[in-house]
Amino acid sequence: MKKFFIATLAAVLMLSTTTVCAAQELPDDLTVMQALSQRKTSRNFVDSDLSEAQLLKILWAANGINRPDGKRVNPAALGVYSVEVYAVTREGIYRYDEVANKLNLIAAGDYRMSTTTGQAFVGKAAVNLVYVETPDAWLNSKHRVPSREHQLAFANIAVGSMIQSVALAAQSEGLGNCVRGSINRDEFAKLAKLSTDKTILLAQSVGKTA
Ligand SMILES: Cc1cc2nc3c(=O)[nH]c(=O)nc-3n(C[C@H](O)[C@H](O)[C@H](O)COP(=O)(O)O)c2cc1C
Repeated sequence: MKKFFIATLAAVLMLSTTTVCAAQELPDDLTVMQALSQRKTSRNFVDSDLSEAQLLKILWAANGINRPDGKRVNPAALGVYSVEVYAVTREGIYRYDEVANKLNLIAAGDYRMSTTTGQAFVGKAAVNLVYVETPDAWLNSKHRVPSREHQLAFANIAVGSMIQSVALAAQSEGLGNCVRGSINRDEFAKLAKLSTDKTILLAQSVGKTA
Protein backbone atom coordinates (compact mmCIF):
# COMPACT_ATOMS: atom_id res chain seq x y z
CA MET A 1 0.00 0.00 0.00
CA LYS A 2 2.85 2.31 0.99
CA LYS A 3 4.66 1.43 -2.29
CA PHE A 4 1.47 2.18 -4.27
CA PHE A 5 1.08 5.56 -2.52
CA ILE A 6 4.69 6.56 -3.29
CA ALA A 7 4.35 5.48 -6.95
CA THR A 8 1.12 7.48 -7.32
CA LEU A 9 2.70 10.54 -5.69
CA ALA A 10 5.72 10.26 -8.02
CA ALA A 11 3.42 10.00 -11.06
CA VAL A 12 1.43 13.07 -9.96
CA LEU A 13 4.65 15.03 -9.37
CA MET A 14 6.02 14.01 -12.79
CA LEU A 15 2.77 15.02 -14.47
CA SER A 16 2.67 18.44 -12.79
CA THR A 17 6.36 19.04 -13.62
CA THR A 18 5.66 18.15 -17.28
CA THR A 19 2.69 20.55 -17.34
CA VAL A 20 4.79 23.37 -15.91
CA CYS A 21 7.61 22.68 -18.42
CA ALA A 22 5.14 22.61 -21.33
CA ALA A 23 3.70 25.95 -20.23
CA GLN A 24 7.21 27.42 -19.98
CA GLU A 25 8.00 26.27 -23.52
CA LEU A 26 5.25 28.47 -25.00
CA PRO A 27 6.79 31.62 -26.52
CA ASP A 28 6.36 34.70 -24.36
CA ASP A 29 4.94 37.86 -25.94
CA LEU A 30 7.64 39.63 -27.90
CA THR A 31 8.92 42.92 -26.57
CA VAL A 32 8.50 45.84 -28.96
CA MET A 33 12.26 45.87 -29.55
CA GLN A 34 12.23 42.13 -30.42
CA ALA A 35 9.28 42.63 -32.77
CA LEU A 36 11.09 45.53 -34.45
CA SER A 37 14.27 43.50 -34.88
CA GLN A 38 12.23 40.74 -36.59
CA ARG A 39 10.02 43.00 -38.77
CA LYS A 40 10.04 42.01 -42.43
CA THR A 41 7.74 41.52 -45.41
CA SER A 42 6.38 37.98 -45.91
CA ARG A 43 4.72 36.68 -49.04
CA ASN A 44 4.73 32.93 -48.33
CA PHE A 45 1.21 32.79 -46.84
CA VAL A 46 -0.64 29.53 -46.26
CA ASP A 47 -4.40 29.46 -46.78
CA SER A 48 -5.38 29.13 -43.14
CA ASP A 49 -7.91 31.25 -41.25
CA LEU A 50 -7.16 33.20 -38.08
CA SER A 51 -9.27 32.86 -34.95
CA GLU A 52 -11.76 35.69 -34.43
CA ALA A 53 -9.73 36.87 -31.43
CA GLN A 54 -6.54 37.02 -33.53
CA LEU A 55 -8.35 38.87 -36.32
CA LEU A 56 -9.70 41.46 -33.87
CA LYS A 57 -6.23 41.93 -32.33
CA ILE A 58 -4.86 42.78 -35.78
CA LEU A 59 -7.73 45.19 -36.47
CA TRP A 60 -7.39 46.79 -33.06
CA ALA A 61 -3.69 47.41 -33.82
CA ALA A 62 -4.74 48.98 -37.13
CA ASN A 63 -7.44 51.35 -35.93
CA GLY A 64 -8.53 50.44 -32.40
CA ILE A 65 -9.39 52.74 -29.51
CA ASN A 66 -6.95 52.56 -26.60
CA ARG A 67 -8.23 55.27 -24.21
CA PRO A 68 -11.55 56.10 -22.53
CA ASP A 69 -11.76 59.42 -24.43
CA GLY A 70 -12.00 57.50 -27.72
CA LYS A 71 -8.49 58.25 -28.94
CA ARG A 72 -6.75 55.49 -30.85
CA VAL A 73 -3.69 53.24 -30.98
CA ASN A 74 -2.35 55.28 -33.91
CA PRO A 75 -2.10 59.08 -34.04
CA ALA A 76 -4.04 61.30 -36.45
CA ALA A 77 -3.46 64.95 -37.39
CA LEU A 78 -5.72 67.26 -35.33
CA GLY A 79 -7.24 64.12 -33.77
CA VAL A 80 -9.35 63.58 -36.88
CA TYR A 81 -9.44 59.87 -37.70
CA SER A 82 -10.03 59.93 -41.44
CA VAL A 83 -8.90 56.37 -42.27
CA GLU A 84 -11.35 53.46 -42.23
CA VAL A 85 -10.18 49.86 -42.24
CA TYR A 86 -11.79 47.09 -44.28
CA ALA A 87 -10.98 43.41 -43.70
CA VAL A 88 -11.19 40.94 -46.57
CA THR A 89 -11.19 37.29 -45.53
CA ARG A 90 -12.27 33.97 -47.01
CA GLU A 91 -15.73 34.73 -45.57
CA GLY A 92 -16.30 38.21 -46.93
CA ILE A 93 -15.59 41.93 -46.97
CA TYR A 94 -16.09 43.64 -43.61
CA ARG A 95 -15.82 47.18 -42.28
CA TYR A 96 -14.05 47.39 -38.90
CA ASP A 97 -16.19 49.17 -36.31
CA GLU A 98 -13.60 50.76 -34.01
CA VAL A 99 -16.06 51.70 -31.28
CA ALA A 100 -17.60 48.25 -30.90
CA ASN A 101 -14.32 46.49 -31.85
CA LYS A 102 -16.17 44.23 -34.24
CA LEU A 103 -16.52 43.51 -37.94
CA ASN A 104 -19.61 44.43 -39.95
CA LEU A 105 -20.24 42.35 -43.05
CA ILE A 106 -20.55 44.24 -46.35
CA ALA A 107 -20.39 41.39 -48.87
CA ALA A 108 -20.26 37.63 -48.26
CA GLY A 109 -17.82 35.55 -50.35
CA ASP A 110 -14.11 35.14 -50.92
CA TYR A 111 -13.02 38.45 -52.48
CA ARG A 112 -9.41 38.44 -51.26
CA MET A 113 -8.05 38.66 -54.83
CA SER A 114 -10.05 41.86 -55.42
CA THR A 115 -7.52 43.63 -53.22
CA THR A 116 -4.61 43.02 -55.62
CA THR A 117 -3.73 43.60 -59.24
CA GLY A 118 -2.54 40.00 -59.47
CA GLN A 119 -0.14 38.96 -56.69
CA ALA A 120 -1.24 35.35 -56.08
CA PHE A 121 -0.20 35.18 -52.42
CA VAL A 122 -2.96 37.68 -51.56
CA GLY A 123 -5.58 34.97 -52.18
CA LYS A 124 -4.00 32.87 -49.44
CA ALA A 125 -3.47 35.50 -46.75
CA ALA A 126 -6.01 35.03 -43.95
CA VAL A 127 -6.91 38.72 -44.00
CA ASN A 128 -6.22 41.59 -46.35
CA LEU A 129 -6.69 44.96 -44.71
CA VAL A 130 -7.63 47.87 -46.94
CA TYR A 131 -7.02 51.40 -45.64
CA VAL A 132 -9.51 53.93 -47.02
CA GLU A 133 -9.52 57.70 -46.56
CA THR A 134 -12.90 59.28 -45.86
CA PRO A 135 -13.22 63.08 -46.13
CA ASP A 136 -16.46 62.94 -44.08
CA ALA A 137 -14.32 62.62 -40.96
CA TRP A 138 -13.55 66.35 -41.24
CA LEU A 139 -17.21 67.39 -41.12
CA ASN A 140 -17.34 67.40 -37.31
CA SER A 141 -13.84 68.82 -36.79
CA LYS A 142 -13.48 71.67 -34.26
CA HIS A 143 -10.47 72.85 -36.25
CA ARG A 144 -10.19 74.73 -39.50
CA VAL A 145 -10.59 72.10 -42.21
CA PRO A 146 -7.29 71.64 -44.11
CA SER A 147 -7.11 71.64 -47.90
CA ARG A 148 -7.94 68.38 -49.65
CA GLU A 149 -4.24 67.96 -50.42
CA HIS A 150 -3.38 68.22 -46.74
CA GLN A 151 -6.23 65.91 -45.73
CA LEU A 152 -4.80 63.22 -48.01
CA ALA A 153 -1.25 63.83 -46.80
CA PHE A 154 -2.41 63.48 -43.16
CA ALA A 155 -4.28 60.26 -44.00
CA ASN A 156 -1.24 58.77 -45.72
CA ILE A 157 0.93 59.61 -42.71
CA ALA A 158 -1.64 58.00 -40.39
CA VAL A 159 -1.63 54.86 -42.55
CA GLY A 160 2.15 54.68 -42.17
CA SER A 161 1.65 54.37 -38.43
CA MET A 162 -1.22 51.90 -38.82
CA ILE A 163 0.71 49.49 -41.04
CA GLN A 164 3.65 49.47 -38.65
CA SER A 165 1.40 48.76 -35.65
CA VAL A 166 -0.17 45.89 -37.59
CA ALA A 167 3.27 44.60 -38.57
CA LEU A 168 4.33 44.52 -34.91
CA ALA A 169 1.05 42.94 -33.75
CA ALA A 170 1.33 40.32 -36.50
CA GLN A 171 4.95 39.61 -35.52
CA SER A 172 3.97 39.12 -31.89
CA GLU A 173 1.21 36.68 -32.97
CA GLY A 174 3.71 34.72 -35.11
CA LEU A 175 2.03 35.92 -38.32
CA GLY A 176 3.50 37.38 -41.50
CA ASN A 177 2.47 40.62 -43.20
CA CYS A 178 2.93 42.41 -46.52
CA VAL A 179 2.08 46.06 -47.13
CA ARG A 180 0.69 46.57 -50.64
CA GLY A 181 0.18 49.61 -52.81
CA SER A 182 -0.77 47.45 -55.75
CA ILE A 183 -4.58 47.13 -55.38
CA ASN A 184 -7.41 46.67 -57.87
CA ARG A 185 -9.01 49.90 -56.68
CA ASP A 186 -11.98 49.94 -59.05
CA GLU A 187 -13.03 46.38 -58.27
CA PHE A 188 -12.58 46.69 -54.51
CA ALA A 189 -14.43 50.03 -54.39
CA LYS A 190 -17.37 48.44 -56.18
CA LEU A 191 -17.46 45.30 -54.01
CA ALA A 192 -17.05 47.25 -50.75
CA LYS A 193 -19.72 49.74 -51.91
CA LEU A 194 -17.40 52.70 -51.28
CA SER A 195 -18.83 56.12 -52.05
CA THR A 196 -16.92 57.98 -54.76
CA ASP A 197 -15.46 60.55 -52.35
CA LYS A 198 -13.41 57.85 -50.59
CA THR A 199 -9.79 57.08 -51.55
CA ILE A 200 -8.16 53.66 -51.25
CA LEU A 201 -4.69 54.32 -49.87
CA LEU A 202 -3.00 51.02 -49.11
CA ALA A 203 -3.57 47.32 -48.39
CA GLN A 204 -1.82 44.90 -46.03
CA SER A 205 -1.97 41.12 -46.12
CA VAL A 206 -1.68 39.31 -42.77
CA GLY A 207 -1.70 35.59 -42.06
CA LYS A 208 0.07 32.38 -41.24
CA THR A 209 3.15 31.67 -43.34
CA ALA A 210 4.90 28.49 -44.48
C1 LIG B 1 3.91 51.96 -49.59
C2 LIG B 1 4.36 50.53 -49.83
C3 LIG B 1 3.82 49.82 -50.89
C4 LIG B 1 4.20 48.50 -51.10
N1 LIG B 1 3.59 47.80 -52.10
C5 LIG B 1 3.86 46.49 -52.26
C6 LIG B 1 3.12 45.71 -53.20
O1 LIG B 1 2.21 46.18 -53.88
N2 LIG B 1 3.41 44.39 -53.29
C7 LIG B 1 4.38 43.79 -52.53
O2 LIG B 1 4.59 42.59 -52.68
N3 LIG B 1 5.11 44.50 -51.64
C8 LIG B 1 4.86 45.83 -51.47
N4 LIG B 1 5.52 46.56 -50.49
C9 LIG B 1 6.53 45.89 -49.64
C10 LIG B 1 7.96 46.30 -50.04
O3 LIG B 1 8.28 45.68 -51.28
C11 LIG B 1 8.94 45.86 -48.93
O4 LIG B 1 8.62 46.56 -47.74
C12 LIG B 1 10.38 46.17 -49.34
O5 LIG B 1 10.79 45.30 -50.38
C13 LIG B 1 11.37 46.03 -48.19
O6 LIG B 1 11.33 44.72 -47.64
P1 LIG B 1 11.04 44.47 -46.07
O7 LIG B 1 9.66 45.01 -45.76
O8 LIG B 1 11.13 42.97 -45.89
O9 LIG B 1 12.07 45.21 -45.31
C14 LIG B 1 5.17 47.87 -50.26
C15 LIG B 1 5.69 48.60 -49.19
C16 LIG B 1 5.28 49.90 -48.96
C17 LIG B 1 5.83 50.64 -47.75
